[in-house]
Amino acid sequence: MTDGATPTARAAVALLLTAAGLTAAILVFGDAAYIWIKAAHVIAVISWMAGMLYLPRLFVYHCDAKPGSELSETLKVMEQRLLRIIINPALGLAWVLGLWLAWRGGFLASGWFHAKLTAVLLMSGFHGFLSASVRRFGEDANTVPARRWRLLNEVPAVLMIVTVILVIVKPF
Ligand code: HEM
Repeated sequence: MTDGATPTARAAVALLLTAAGLTAAILVFGDAAYIWIKAAHVIAVISWMAGMLYLPRLFVYHCDAKPGSELSETLKVMEQRLLRIIINPALGLAWVLGLWLAWRGGFLASGWFHAKLTAVLLMSGFHGFLSASVRRFGEDANTVPARRWRLLNEVPAVLMIVTVILVIVKPF
């Protein structure tokens, strides 16, 4: 329990410090803050995606590990830390900064933004599913076979490709 609480608290503090730093950037740089916030958004998105693509790979290995074995227990710690320290804070940051960019950039009524929002909502739903799966693996209660985890690994990859094309090309 203690092992899990400390990284979570650290991640929350990191998130708060980042938010405070970005608020200061907006106050100091005014309009020029937009590109800095966009850079921070892309950094958060890369961290979020790295975790979303890696977690299902860990699940594939976890399926082959005997419950109670050293490998299984190590994978549990890796999955829980990846979720709490990287994926969850990165998701929060990507959303907060992305919504600010949409508001400040005047994109809230744009077609491409609505399509991107749909893809990102699906990504966030998949994030929720992975989060619940980390809990199930932690209780040795996973029922999804390794082969299906390999297929599910493609979901964030496809959504990521769609999202990037929508925001860069802005086709409509
Ligand atoms: C979490 C919700 C998200 C929201 C609300 C959001 C919104 C936005 C907005 C409004 C911009 C500024 C666009 C511009 O200035 O032209 C932006 C930039 C960007 N976003 Fe997101 N985004 C989100 C998540 C994501 C995700 C998941 C990805 C990738 C998988 C992504 C990739 C990018 C990229 C690459 C840019 C830079 C585009 C450019 O400069 O041309 N975003 N985002």
